[in-house]
Amino acid sequence: MNGTYKIHLAKAVNIIQKSNYVIALVGAGLSAESGIPTFRGKGGLWTKKGEPGPSQYRNFVKDPKSWWINNLDEQQDPERTNFRNVIDKAKPNQGHLALYELEHDGILKHQITQNVDGLHFAAGSINITEIHGSRANIRCISCEFKTPRVALESSIAKLSYTEKIKLLPPSCHRCGGVMKPDTVMFGEPIPSSVLEECVVQTKKSDCILMVGTSATVYPAASFPQEIKTRGGKIIELNPSSTSLSEISDVSIRGSTSSTIPDLVKKLGTQQH
Ligand code: OAD
Repeated sequence: MNGTYKIHLAKAVNIIQKSNYVIALVGAGLSAESGIPTFRGKGGLWTKKGEPGPSQYRNFVKDPKSWWINNLDEQQDPERTNFRNVIDKAKPNQGHLALYELEHDGILKHQITQNVDGLHFAAGSINITEIHGSRANIRCISCEFKTPRVALESSIAKLSYTEKIKLLPPSCHRCGGVMKPDTVMFGEPIPSSVLEECVVQTKKSDCILMVGTSATVYPAASFPQEIKTRGGKIIELNPSSTSLSEISDVSIRGSTSSTIPDLVKKLGTQQH
């Protein structure tokens, strides 16, 4: 641990101890050490595949049947299939576990995560809002009702191609609407109940941990800015600088699989 790193950790501890309601905005960097690639930067999914265009959601709504047929075909897009397989096998790392400890000790009140991998829950955290949805679920585009994705996949796995096509797109058990993966597409509004929770949490907060996110995607990136505008604090945890480094009160550089556990240790929570 070098001197600057220690000073930054101490500064973060001081900010957290003086804050009333600490929340976190989490991004793909947290899960990098669980083997899940980030989106941007070296080896990122969008770096390799290109970012989906803004009409991704419009294209889904225009023809959900064709979209689902393509989506369930593992051969169509090997990069996408590989990404999904990696997520399905991933385990939480020390960073997820340290966030759980912060929540368990009453320090971290809520996490707004942009990750769709479910690893916060696997680590034991409870107070989570998945702003970009979850890979584990499918969701009705009309009433926002969710069901597990595996239930859909296992119910259609043994069907013939013709039977499968008849069943797609899956329809909502509650309102009959069209179901889509819960993960939010480009051009798709954040489901209103989810956005509402993020707004409520941001309003309550006077300190936000910005964990492993490039803070380039909105509305998520607006939450730290809003807290800062109200006089709150931003603690950035990221090996690299981001678009919000300049307005952060302190930046702790390094992989979050080691920096968050270091922060927990420094806060003394491990002795509780
Ligand atoms: P990005 O890929 O944009 O940024 C990942 C961040 O993780 C970068 O700032 C890296 O410096 C940092 N990082 C890399 N390795 C790390 C490590 N070991 N520990 C900690 N941080 C590390 O990912 P997000 O900010 O999550 O949305 O991207 C936001 C959204 O853009 C995603 O939720 C996704 C994407 O489009 C949708 O698909 C809707």
